[in-house]
Amino acid sequence: MVGIALSALSALAVSLSAAASPLRLAKRDPVPSFVLEHAPLSYLYSKEQWWPSDVAVHLTHVTPQVNFTNIADAVTFETIPSLASDVFLTSKDDVTTSPDWITNDAGKPDANGLSTAPSTIVLVNKPGGILDAFFFYFYSYDHGGKVLDIEFGDHVGDWEHTMVRFTNGTPTEFYLSAHSGGSAYTFDAVNKTNGRPISYIGVGTHANYATPGKHCHDLPGDLLCDQTDASFVWDLAANYRAFWFDNSTQTFSVAGGAGSGAQSIDAEGAGWLQYEGAWGDEQYPDDEHGQYCLVIGSLVDECQFVSGPTGPIKKNLGRTAVCQKESSCTVATSL
Ligand SMILES: *[C@@H]1O[C@H](CO)[C@@H](O)[C@H](O)[C@H]1NC(C)=O
Ligand SMILES: *[C@@H]1O[C@H](CO)[C@@H](O)[C@H](O)[C@H]1NC(C)=O
Ligand SMILES: *[C@@H]1O[C@H](CO)[C@@H](O)[C@H](O)[C@H]1NC(C)=O
Repeated sequence: MVGIALSALSALAVSLSAAASPLRLAKRDPVPSFVLEHAPLSYLYSKEQWWPSDVAVHLTHVTPQVNFTNIADAVTFETIPSLASDVFLTSKDDVTTSPDWITNDAGKPDANGLSTAPSTIVLVNKPGGILDAFFFYFYSYDHGGKVLDIEFGDHVGDWEHTMVRFTNGTPTEFYLSAHSGGSAYTFDAVNKTNGRPISYIGVGTHANYATPGKHCHDLPGDLLCDQTDASFVWDLAANYRAFWFDNSTQTFSVAGGAGSGAQSIDAEGAGWLQYEGAWGDEQYPDDEHGQYCLVIGSLVDECQFVSGPTGPIKKNLGRTAVCQKESSCTVATSL
């Protein structure tokens, strides 16, 4: 009986895969090996406390809100695509009480660079033999920097990315997101380990840099700086969910996964990446959750808590230049 059932099943599987084959191939082209061979190795700082997070875990701790009012009790991979772009996925917990899902070190990479939090890889084919491989880093919390020893710029949810541009399968450029901008280099220029480009991640803010040390940004006079060093390597290719993005239709499809990302990706699908709203709380009004803002003329306008960011779909995946902001994109030829 078992034998008959099994052979009937495998006959069915053969006919199914034959029938579904064109669709499956179109939708499930795997991640090309050259992408994984040149995936970044990113170093988290020695005193990091806000570790990489699994998007799936994050969703269990937030509710969709519009104008600070719940529009549903919960959000899942299934329901998130139907949410409008004015939605803020808002923490169920008061973040000033340091809830465990924000402060625990579950996503801290192990000695091999493996994090329990899958990265999100988005692949985009473009004219001229170009394939842009976006590596998205997600954290449940961004702990902003200190200005004059006061904390500014915290937010729930944090999407950062690096991007390796391949031309006919060869890596040619490397882009790193940082705050409202980022930096771009020729692939030759950046330091690599076994052909894999290196980035250094600012403590708390998670901005990416091609060189270690201190990086000041946004404010004059070195008022606001990121700290980086080569402490905890995060191998972006060890655990991931990977997708194709079709720029002409602005839609995502599943490419495949590795690690825990491989186990969950089929059930989750690719629709969640269509969500255009924010992945964290809306900026709190003054005095709520201890909110304060510092305004110094036109020089400084910073609040302790700012709104959470949008996700990968809003990061200019269809870019022609290497940079997210295409109008001012300089590709450096040395570090
Ligand atoms: C947001 O909510 C507040 C308080 O309930 C209300 O006064 C305001 O009109 C709402 N704003 C929008 C844009 O709906
Ligand atoms: C890049 O690698 C070279 C050679 O290993 C090393 O001397 C240099 O300090 C590195 N630079 C950075 C910015 O990591
Ligand atoms: C991607 O699509 C956008 C919107 O249609 C378009 O402006 C852009 O040029 C496209 N990118 C590429 C590389 O073709």
